[in-house]
Amino acid sequence: MSTQKQSHAQWGSRMGFVLAATGSAVGLGNIWKFPYMTGVSGGSAFVLTYLLCIALIGLPILVAEWLIGRRGQKNPIHAMEDVAAQNQRAKAWSIIGMVGVLGSFLILSFYSVIGGWAVDYIFMTGSGTFAGLDGDGTGKIFTGFLGNHEQLLVWHTVFMALTIGIVAMGVAGGLERASKLMMPGLAVVLLILVAYGAFATGAFGRALSFLFTPDWSKINGSVLLAALGHAFFTLSLGMGIMMSYGSYLGQEVNLLKTARTVVILDTVIALFAGMAIFPLVFANNLEPAAGPGLIFVTLPIAFGNMTGGTLLGVLFFILLTFAALTSSISLLEPTVELLEEKTPLGRKGATLVAGGAIWALGIACLLSFNLWSEFTILGNNIFDFLDKLTSKFMLPLTGLGTIIFAAWFMNQESIRKELGLQGGAYMLWHIISRFVAPIGVIIVFVASLMS
Ligand code: PHE
Ligand code: NA
Repeated sequence: MSTQKQSHAQWGSRMGFVLAATGSAVGLGNIWKFPYMTGVSGGSAFVLTYLLCIALIGLPILVAEWLIGRRGQKNPIHAMEDVAAQNQRAKAWSIIGMVGVLGSFLILSFYSVIGGWAVDYIFMTGSGTFAGLDGDGTGKIFTGFLGNHEQLLVWHTVFMALTIGIVAMGVAGGLERASKLMMPGLAVVLLILVAYGAFATGAFGRALSFLFTPDWSKINGSVLLAALGHAFFTLSLGMGIMMSYGSYLGQEVNLLKTARTVVILDTVIALFAGMAIFPLVFANNLEPAAGPGLIFVTLPIAFGNMTGGTLLGVLFFILLTFAALTSSISLLEPTVELLEEKTPLGRKGATLVAGGAIWALGIACLLSFNLWSEFTILGNNIFDFLDKLTSKFMLPLTGLGTIIFAAWFMNQESIRKELGLQGGAYMLWHIISRFVAPIGVIIVFVASLMS
């Protein structure tokens, strides 16, 4: 009986953890950002470097964040084993923590604007706005939407209010569990759209070669940095979010296997999105490098022209909204935690203040699509500036600190035991975590400075 009890508890905690981590990872990054970054960065060159970054840098850093997080709540044995490392750990934590909180704050401000677009598109699709339209028509609708700052504000506010409500009421648990149903749903709808691209557009071949035919000549420093940054963004790395999820972990969870699961799910969803969107791009002579509006211009063409498209479109944007919410709540959490600890505000007050501040910054982001489009910081509008600052600099740098800390300053023998690795497998982990991942990040930075 006690065995039964124990295994049930283990399953419950592992499951909840996998759901929360996957919920944070899978979001707008996969369906909105990955395809448009691919388009902007020239296709396959970006996709291939992104996949390499995910496998050689993202995955080890994900494991490192969980390792550190799980140690944070560690039992006295490890605590004593690492007395010497303790000080360094505290330092690393505080720097990573500070940059991480700031990063999540900034990211959520523009993430919420795009989340708002997804909510708006539930209603646009549902009311038949896109029926029979081609790329020209959906493009005009999207441009009109972007130009209307009041409409953008309404939906940004709705999305942020949902995020604040969920975090304040602490109903995230229910949401994570719901995402257990939602995520497969999202994958199925994406697959239907991939099938539509394959059979109804006549441009599937072109899309596939755009995405996957290696064109190494297109790889330069800026493509590398974009791919690296997106690897961090999509796996929710470099903000201490995965670290704090790791702190709820029991020892029975196999970190490597779990990381593999999360990484594969995240990557598959992104690739499906790419394969759904680019056939529509090419069939309608749209610009692959159209930028942040890409999915909002392309997918409605499919929804407006396929049988059952209205229903499927509504379902798609609802699922996308949920995927975005399971990510946005994880983005709000660090700032809320900080306010809760450092101010007299309670949980609800902290959530309102943090969420309110992020909402206000989000207004500056949404205005950069219309009234403030001329206002630039270092050549970027506010939206692009915040996106690039966080993805390309803040996340990779804190990620670098994390992996250096885990691979060079923590007791390696205890990590070996914790990951259950022996012989060649351990050698591989050792080489990747000590050399490949950190040097990879550094090379990308140097390459991007030179180009
Ligand atoms: N990983 C999320 C996505 O792909 C975005 C995110 C980034 C969430 C950073 C949390 C932290 O949409
Ligand atoms: Na993601």
